[in-house]
Amino acid sequence: MTILLTGACGFAGCEIARGLRAHRASWKIVGLDNLSRAGSEANRAGLQKLGVKVVHGDVRLASDIDAIGPVDAVIDAAANPSVLAGLDGQASTRQVVEHNLLGTVNLLEYCRRHRAAFVLLSTSRLYSIPALCALPVEARGEPPAFGLVPGATLPPGVSGAGLDETFSTAAPISLYGATKLASEALALEYAHSFGLPVWLNRCGVLAGAGQFGRPDQGIVAYWIHGWRERRPLRYIGFNGSGAQVRDALHPRDLVPLLIKQLECRDPAAKPRILTVGGGASNAFSLAGLSAWCADRFGWNLEVLPDRQPRPLDVPWVVMDAALAQRTWDWAPATRLHDIFDEVAAFALARSDWLAVTGGA
Ligand SMILES: NC(=O)c1ccc[n+]([C@@H]2O[C@H](COP(=O)([O-])OP(=O)(O)OC[C@H]3O[C@@H](n4cnc5c(N)ncnc54)[C@H](O)[C@@H]3O)[C@@H](O)[C@H]2O)c1
Repeated sequence: MTILLTGACGFAGCEIARGLRAHRASWKIVGLDNLSRAGSEANRAGLQKLGVKVVHGDVRLASDIDAIGPVDAVIDAAANPSVLAGLDGQASTRQVVEHNLLGTVNLLEYCRRHRAAFVLLSTSRLYSIPALCALPVEARGEPPAFGLVPGATLPPGVSGAGLDETFSTAAPISLYGATKLASEALALEYAHSFGLPVWLNRCGVLAGAGQFGRPDQGIVAYWIHGWRERRPLRYIGFNGSGAQVRDALHPRDLVPLLIKQLECRDPAAKPRILTVGGGASNAFSLAGLSAWCADRFGWNLEVLPDRQPRPLDVPWVVMDAALAQRTWDWAPATRLHDIFDEVAAFALARSDWLAVTGGA
């Protein structure tokens, strides 16, 4: 099997390439990356050493993709993955749409021509922001963490186990979320019209050593490296409490699922859209992560409250992977504190990481 892995030099791409090499050594992997993310360049040599052919190219350019030649499957992990993309002055709105959506169009056309399978690393951020903000949550415990109010009436697609595939995707969902939702819609049409195997994996927060940490993307890495480097950290919004909750998934845990999807002989029998995340047992609040850091590093940092709400922010996102469990026998393998430990060990070894990856 020959795979085109876009965004190969990014955090998730790199972990997926490593996992595929470890579990399917005979598969050929071509990695395509435009090295636009600060830190990506640092991964290039390591991938080449693993036997991944790394091509410097851009998914916005069909000719860069076509030059790769035929493959059996595309795993698309190239994107501007920030929920603030297009709004924070870092990238223009047109750039976000071109990287994330035009890139998908080019890849789908390429898949159509080569009869290749298409796997998208989609996102929890395509769920409706007003619907997420309207969830009945309350802060509980010390350090505080939002949780669903017990016994409260919930909208479709959410339970104590998290959000599932049926939760509302009504706008607004952020430009980032909209490019992913539109990518999903197009991929489903290509699947239907041309019989392509298409797999859309909606990931929650991904985290692990070597992630490029910024406050808007890569929060676990940003927080743990920031603590290690004693940088100023802020609890943004939610009354400055740090009670906002996410669940963490290590991207290497995705690899067994991706392999099953790519080796599936009867794609029509399986769901095309999945929510995949660390789930309730890997959920944490920012305040909880601070407590963990204080314990791990042995010092306290004063995290300043910034009560001004940040646009597009949501209090509670936990991904319910029950459908992935039922249909693929897939579950996240790496426990929350093992993810944190791995990131902390990396932070101790690489005190320059936030500067290298644009988080400083
Ligand atoms: N990190 C998360 O928490 C998370 C959560 C859900 C979904 N995802 C999705 O997973 C995928 C990978 O995310 P990540 O965290 O590894 O991000 P990342 O920024 O670490 O990696 C993305 C890589 O894509 C490359 N890239 C960007 N635009 C490109 C283009 N036009 N052409 C070629 N390469 C390009 C970048 O240089 C970078 O190496 C993205 O699609 C993202 O939306 C990530």
